[in-house]
Amino acid sequence: MRHIMSPLDFSVEELDQMMNLAGDIEKHPEKYAHACDGKKIATLFYEPSTRTRLSFETAMLNLGGSVIGFASADSSSAAKGESVSDTIRVISCFADICAMRHPKEGAPLVASQASSIPVINAGDGGHQHPTQTLTDLLTIRSLKGRLDHLTIGLCGDLKFGRTVHSLISALVRYTGVKFVLISPEELRVPSYIREDVLDASHTEYEEVIRLEDALPKLDILYMTRVQKERFFNEEDYVRMKDFYILDKAKMELARPDMYVLHPLPRVNEISVEVDSDPRAAYFKQVQYGVYIRMALILTLLEVKVC
Ligand code: NCD
Repeated sequence: MRHIMSPLDFSVEELDQMMNLAGDIEKHPEKYAHACDGKKIATLFYEPSTRTRLSFETAMLNLGGSVIGFASADSSSAAKGESVSDTIRVISCFADICAMRHPKEGAPLVASQASSIPVINAGDGGHQHPTQTLTDLLTIRSLKGRLDHLTIGLCGDLKFGRTVHSLISALVRYTGVKFVLISPEELRVPSYIREDVLDASHTEYEEVIRLEDALPKLDILYMTRVQKERFFNEEDYVRMKDFYILDKAKMELARPDMYVLHPLPRVNEISVEVDSDPRAAYFKQVQYGVYIRMALILTLLEVKVC
């Protein structure tokens, strides 16, 4: 039985196969409509979510399965003090697979150690968010036709943004990927990402503060929200929150084939006027998220569709 805590739990070849499967699901959804008949996914969300939770639920429903779960810690026995290990033992009696989001880093890993069903980390604190990364990889591969030899700009809250940490960890495995890390000084990527991931893999990267300086060289711009819930004080958040606003004027500095991604939710960091630009790919990205989660569920449940 396999779990997914980080994108590195799957090799590049396995991720490739999963993306190919997602591509087939996109083309022939009817082939997969009963692949998980009788199976259940439990979505255990101890932290708010719209896309990730509903995307998992949609993915399972599209496969013919069904869904149980909770959408906040207050509505679960966590409010009574139950541990995630006990909760997962209970859920293992009800469901075939589970997706867990938790504010504490490592909570889904602790759960996986007590689980008798596959556990998917659907975001743990400021740490990792592997299924957003699978979504991002599939989106980039679909739009650019490749995952190697790309210059990727990551902009915004690179310190607390778990989607950024997972995406960097996954992308350093592809040849010729370079990063431009665009953030205010206070929100730079944590040193463990710089040292253990970027330096350890000899990946080329630069850190800049001005988005305008980075834009002309990018193949992909990955915008992120300042992670309000992880700040220790409101004042710092208010000072940082509108540091970057991508608008039409800035988009003119970018290449005609540079795509803009964002894990969403967006606050102010992308002006709505950018939405109509053909290079704005963040809503398409949501759709890819459903296909790749379908592929992940099939892979973890070892369901083969011929
Ligand atoms: C992201 C998350 O939860 O980390 N959202 C998502 O899953 N699509 C990004 C965010 O909340 O800013």
